[in-house]
Amino acid sequence: MPASLLSSPHLNPNVLGLPPSATLAINERSDALIADGRKVYKLGLGQSPFPVPECVVAALREAAAEKDYLPVRGLRPLREMVTEFLHRRHGLERARRQVLVGPGSKELIFLTQLAYAGELLVPSPSWVSYAPQARIIGRRVTWLQTEFAHDWKLLPQTLDAHCRANPGLPRLLIVNYPSNPTGVVCSDAELATLAEVARRHQVLVISDEIYSDLDHSGRAASIAHHYPEGTVVSTGLSKWCGAGGWRLGLFSFPAELEWLCSALASIASETYTSVSAPIQYAALRAFAGGPEIDAYLRHCRAVLAALGQHCAATLRDAGCRVPTVGGAFYLFPDFGALRARLAARGITGAAALSETLLDDTGVATLPGHEFGRPRNELTLRLSYVNFDGARALKAAEAGERIDIAFLRRHCTQTLEAIDRIADWVAN
Ligand SMILES: Cc1ncc(COP(=O)(O)O)c(C=O)c1O
Repeated sequence: MPASLLSSPHLNPNVLGLPPSATLAINERSDALIADGRKVYKLGLGQSPFPVPECVVAALREAAAEKDYLPVRGLRPLREMVTEFLHRRHGLERARRQVLVGPGSKELIFLTQLAYAGELLVPSPSWVSYAPQARIIGRRVTWLQTEFAHDWKLLPQTLDAHCRANPGLPRLLIVNYPSNPTGVVCSDAELATLAEVARRHQVLVISDEIYSDLDHSGRAASIAHHYPEGTVVSTGLSKWCGAGGWRLGLFSFPAELEWLCSALASIASETYTSVSAPIQYAALRAFAGGPEIDAYLRHCRAVLAALGQHCAATLRDAGCRVPTVGGAFYLFPDFGALRARLAARGITGAAALSETLLDDTGVATLPGHEFGRPRNELTLRLSYVNFDGARALKAAEAGERIDIAFLRRHCTQTLEAIDRIADWVAN
């Protein structure tokens, strides 16, 4: 009998053995433990805890009857609104409508990797999905090293050294500040020097700014200011608007990269066609901004900033190294200083650290190697949003002072989880 043509060896070799995304896998594992009656603190999945602003939900309700296919690049007024939003909020000068709307920025990043035949450069650590996407397409991935001493930020000299070693090749660099997994932000001056190197080597840059509006200071810098002609800005509704499940992402292109936008739109036209119409109409309301959205963002940032600082301080007191907290809702503690104590418990790498922590304390995290760090490094990513965001937001809106008492009242699960980690390390 010949081997079945319906068997797995006929999978594309690029996807043979490809595991599901690490973040989704930890969420499923946590849910399975909860179903078994275990108490689990879900610090694995990076999802905004806050509800979608009421005015945006109302806009979605009103648009429920919108049923037509929309233009591949997206609803025209939405593309104009996003251009204005990026200008208003981030000072970005872009031609009107040079925007592509997609079903999540993740999909748009994937399409770019598919369309642009270049090597992918990503700092280590970086978000979990960039490298697997390159693998699916069969692109080469280079991890650019960073260090704790520089808050895990990509240094211009590292990019320069890599590009000089093999000059003249097409390259795509993805930078992401505020960062997932570290929560660090880059200053305007740091991005200016990085931009200068990217321009010198003509590296195509995706600036993944999905967390920009959750920069705790409210003033995120963008590499696009310093290298506008080579930078695609990536954003969406998932994080700042709490609407990850709505699946709407956006790319803003400079006029010089119209050829790339056009290629992506062609692929989109042959695959997802266009993003759900009601969601695009609702997004119009979100990106229009106004006092209600400004207040919403102010409160979200204030809660996240206080909570991030508190968690980082607790972990530092427990002996971890934690970089400066600047944005988003992640921490990337390094347990390296506790290596001897952990080795005595049989823990010598991030996978064992994450698994033992989950077994012993119920705290779900992700190991640093999922973000490109070496397997023997004792780093973890924690997502400090295991609390009822709607309740915390209401309390902040009602004028409750955001201090440690507020965190104990409204972010109880996260505080408990961090305390459990600190106790586990100590004992
Ligand atoms: C750094 C980063 N980029 C992109 C995404 C994808 O977001 P979207 O929901 O727009 O696909 C995420 C989501 O977790 C992320 O953390």
